[in-house]
Amino acid sequence: MKPVFSRITGTGSFLPPRRLSNHDMATMLAERGLETSDEWIVERTGIRFRHFAADGVNASDLALPACQAALAAAGRQAEDVDLIIVATSTPDMVFPSTATLLQNKLGVHGCAAFDVQAVCSGFVYALTVADAMIKTGGASCALVVGAEVFSRILDFNDRTTCVLFGDGAGAVVLEASAEPGILASDLHADGRHSDILCTPGTVAGGQVVGSPLLRMDGQAVFKLAVGVLEQAARNVLERAGRPPESLHWLVPHQANIRIMMATAKKLKLAPDRLVATVAEHGNTSAASVPLALDVAVRDGRIRRGDSVMLEGVGGGFTWGAVLLDF
Ligand code: ACO
Repeated sequence: MKPVFSRITGTGSFLPPRRLSNHDMATMLAERGLETSDEWIVERTGIRFRHFAADGVNASDLALPACQAALAAAGRQAEDVDLIIVATSTPDMVFPSTATLLQNKLGVHGCAAFDVQAVCSGFVYALTVADAMIKTGGASCALVVGAEVFSRILDFNDRTTCVLFGDGAGAVVLEASAEPGILASDLHADGRHSDILCTPGTVAGGQVVGSPLLRMDGQAVFKLAVGVLEQAARNVLERAGRPPESLHWLVPHQANIRIMMATAKKLKLAPDRLVATVAEHGNTSAASVPLALDVAVRDGRIRRGDSVMLEGVGGGFTWGAVLLDF
């Protein structure tokens, strides 16, 4: 019997049409008596634009066109899918899962569908779970999705966080294959740091108890992120028996260009091997890695057979990496 690998056969993404520049954010904040500027945001983060979903548009609504594009790229129909995993921290509802709502919107029924909650590492976690299910025969054609509406949980009275995030969705079709594929994964979490990046509110007694808005200690996140991203990348390379110089592309979580450049530098990767979409998308949490991957596939940078490192880091604190041959 041939060994079973899992391989990405199609990518897709979707951004809601409302696009806000840093100038738009500065105007919005000025109305609240807060000051920010294009210069501050670009210099500290590399972000120039972000997209916000319209009222009533949920994570599953953004995920649907991303999945349809990924299915078309893979030459697959929704009926071919036997597993749907959605990584999100901004689900449509407390329950059922966004994955089941997405399944219904795709017009298919019966296949396994569930959400993964690992904040900005969510897509890397979801991809690793789908890979394991395919390798053990539990699925053969999976939709792995990152979809977020972070605009819903932003505190527009907190200039230190609200300028950083945006909404969007990205998806891949992951299929059983005789050829690799995903080569190695490395996932981690450290709950001791759960308070440096969180949305602490919960629902109890028919009310939201605690703040339903995101809060972050940016400097604490920054310091942790650079170290763990380098380590996770080295772990997967070692597991796959590949040297860092064999990498064609690094597609990290798109939070801050300085974190991404620092990671590339530590891996001695030339800056043009880094896929960076943070300027255009802002930080879309679990959607950021599949969004960036889809951009680089569609503009022709990432080609079949290229060695690609995906990396996530975020709330939890969580982090991880997946090494694959595209
Ligand atoms: N506009 C103008 N000034 C601002 C703004 C703003 N939007 N936000 C903060 N400032 C001010 C602060 O008040 C502070 O002023 P002060 O010196 O008078 O007190 C000054 O700018 C510097 O603030 P710092 O917080 O020290 O700025 P820093 O250089 O650390 O940059 C940032 C902040 C961009 C958040 C950075 O720490 C960072 O990127 N951290 C990592 C965040 C991250 O990666 N998050 C995502 C990972 S997980 C996930 O995606 C969910």
